[in-house]
Amino acid sequence: MNEAVLNDLAEPKNTSQAGPETEASLNIEYTNTVGQPLCDEAKIQTRDVNVFYAENQAIHNVNLDIGAHEVIALIGPSGCGKSTYLRTLNRMNDTIDICRVQGQILLDGEDIYTKKQDPVLLRARVGMVFQKPNPFPKSIYDNVAYGPRIHGLTRNKSELDDLVEESLTKAGLFQEVKDRLDAPGTGLSGGQQQRLCIARTIAVQPEVILMDEPASALDPIATAKIEELINELKQNFTIVIVTHSMQQAARVSQRTAYFHMGRLIEVGETDQIFTNPTHELTEKYITGRFG
Ligand SMILES: Nc1ncnc2c1ncn2[C@@H]1O[C@H](COP(=O)(O)OP(=O)(O)OP(=O)(O)O)[C@@H](O)[C@H]1O
Ligand SMILES: [Mg+2]
Repeated sequence: MNEAVLNDLAEPKNTSQAGPETEASLNIEYTNTVGQPLCDEAKIQTRDVNVFYAENQAIHNVNLDIGAHEVIALIGPSGCGKSTYLRTLNRMNDTIDICRVQGQILLDGEDIYTKKQDPVLLRARVGMVFQKPNPFPKSIYDNVAYGPRIHGLTRNKSELDDLVEESLTKAGLFQEVKDRLDAPGTGLSGGQQQRLCIARTIAVQPEVILMDEPASALDPIATAKIEELINELKQNFTIVIVTHSMQQAARVSQRTAYFHMGRLIEVGETDQIFTNPTHELTEKYITGRFG
């Protein structure tokens, strides 16, 4: 194990608790993750993250950085905790009563789980796109304008119009809907609805976008559009994407993190994970022996 990595990892811990016992347990736990879970330029740092649903532990001691302007894919068998981990990054787990999150999650070095952190503002900075497109029962325009309105991002109608157009354009949808902005968002096709949800997410100018299987309900053409879009969005945003498709992970991400039964098993460059994984569990998964 790389000592510099270990030191890095220990750094954000509260030093008053960092006795030999803590170091030792960190060591043991950390050896469970192989590869490169940490980054030099981290946008989000997660340390010793444990997540429980009532008595059941869904995430075990995960240490992972999300690098600035990277696309990182989270993969692993169903039920391994990908969505649970993803939701810790913008406190979406707060909405689940029985869910309890332990550990540190830092956005630009600041703990997002403090009382003074407003979750609504946090979710504007760390936006989320879900598996099933969930447009509001409003017009296409109002879906995209919703966030900018509640956060007071524009000063007048003309600025709002511009922001709506820009967001729809970035989401690759503007040309298809420009003549029917007043039509209901729910009347669009599934792939268009998903791009509308992406436009709605980027309209509030987030720094990070979390995507939980954003293309799993879409046909190959709509999927290709979403993947193209991810490749464009990565220039301006940091993206964490959960996917069941290894081809998709390979196409869109630079780094891949493999989860297994709530534990982070291996993290590395996507190419390496798919061609030359280090951990036996990763290898079994990517060669289709389970999952
Ligand atoms: N709202 C919840 N209440 C109770 N348990 C939950 C809840 N959500 C998830 N879990 C449990 O947490 C564990 C991890 O689930 P999670 O949904 O994070 O897995 P996943 O990797 O996203 O799976 P999938 O690929 O099927 O989406 C599972 O054992 C699941 O049953
Ligand atoms: Mg999931």
